[in-house]
Amino acid sequence: MIEEIKALENLYPDKRSQVMGALWVVQRARAWKLTKADLLDVAEFLDISPVEVQAVATFYTMYNLIEPMGRYHIQVCQNISCTLLGAENLIAHLEKVLGIKPGESTADKKFSISTVECLGSCGTAPMMQINDDYYESLTVEKVDEILMSYK
Ligand code: FES
Repeated sequence: MIEEIKALENLYPDKRSQVMGALWVVQRARAWKLTKADLLDVAEFLDISPVEVQAVATFYTMYNLIEPMGRYHIQVCQNISCTLLGAENLIAHLEKVLGIKPGESTADKKFSISTVECLGSCGTAPMMQINDDYYESLTVEKVDEILMSYK
């Protein structure tokens, strides 16, 4: 992680500009989740204020701060195209099937749910992302099939 974060120095004009990349490196290394300790470590490593790192990590939905984070992180887009085509129904269905709300994880730490803004797949709305994979043109029935594939 340290080598990867050091390599960011060549891409950005100052350490403050490296925060997003550094958080991404740490999150990937930590199985797609960040803890408060990770945020403090990034701040210390970049020699910037912890509150600046926390501000970035809490503003952007691509940083996962759910504790504990499930093994499979389901991110459901709730932006305009996805909402118009049924994202709210998908979220309600996931809440019912998994017994959790966005920002929570199942008791077995298998699944976590987040609602996020546009993931750039508006033409195939509604959609969701599970870890690195996109699932598009979703229906409740497709969501059930997808969840079964993660069992
Ligand atoms: S609005 Fe959902 S992917 Fe763009």
